Amino acid sequence: MKGIVLAGGSGTRLYPITISVSKQLTPVYDKPMLYYPISTLMLMGIKDILIISTKDDIPRYKKLFGNGKSLGLRFSYEIQHAPNGLAEAFIIGEDFIKNEDVCLILGDNLFHGTGYISKIRKKIKNLNGGLIFGYRVSDPQRYGVVEFDKSFKVKSIEEKPQNPKSNYAVPGLYFYDNSIVKIAKNLKPSERGELEITDLNKEYLNKGDLEVQLLGRGVSWFDTGTHTSLLNASNFVRSIEERQGKKISCIEEVSLNMGFMDKKMLQKYIDLYPSCDYKNYLKTLI
Ligand code: G1P
Repeated sequence: MKGIVLAGGSGTRLYPITISVSKQLTPVYDKPMLYYPISTLMLMGIKDILIISTKDDIPRYKKLFGNGKSLGLRFSYEIQHAPNGLAEAFIIGEDFIKNEDVCLILGDNLFHGTGYISKIRKKIKNLNGGLIFGYRVSDPQRYGVVEFDKSFKVKSIEEKPQNPKSNYAVPGLYFYDNSIVKIAKNLKPSERGELEITDLNKEYLNKGDLEVQLLGRGVSWFDTGTHTSLLNASNFVRSIEERQGKKISCIEEVSLNMGFMDKKMLQKYIDLYPSCDYKNYLKTLI
């Protein structure tokens, strides 16, 4: 399975913060935002990761992550030239995906919790169609919204509906089999001129090939697209980290725990870092 992190867009809702820097490079408490979705991919066992961003920002991501080798990963980079929609990721990523299944995670989505990762990992071993998620929120009109019938069978999916048919938002974590590339290529832009991820999901739904798994209350999901949601995510990370004395989404720690890197490789990071809180934390892992 290949992984794509989409870190495009112009982040206009976060202006003036995002005038000169990509939204996904801004901090969520003590790390760049992209550390969180990348950790999620790593926890899924995905090592081959494509970062898609704007022409201006790709060099900054390369500075941050390089080719990924020192983390035991493989990073590739592609440019999204215009904000043409999330579904374009599968067209841009065609050569990267090759004939494998693929997971797309949005660069501004943060997941934290226990149990859900192992469940998903089991499911994606034999992926047939698409697997997306439903998460109860108080403000569904900001998201893709999934409607269920009484037996929790999916009835419909709508993108940012004014009158949502349920409180279940679709988080920015999507798994698809290899037919996604073909489906994305045949997609028509929406009224706002974008290739919508929701339209891709509808295609899978209409074919009877879409599974929507509910993420329970034990999982925390943040989307950091507004000033308030960005601050909420930072406060969440800070609260948990201070209380537990363990960091959330420390990519070096995730890599070590997943067996992608060994302690020798971690020591190299420690030697490289200047004196700082993050370095002190890495030292505790040796
Ligand atoms: C996008 C998707 C939406 C999804 C959301 C999750 O919206 O279009 O379906 O629910 O991500 O974060 P955006 O946040 O790009 O407006």
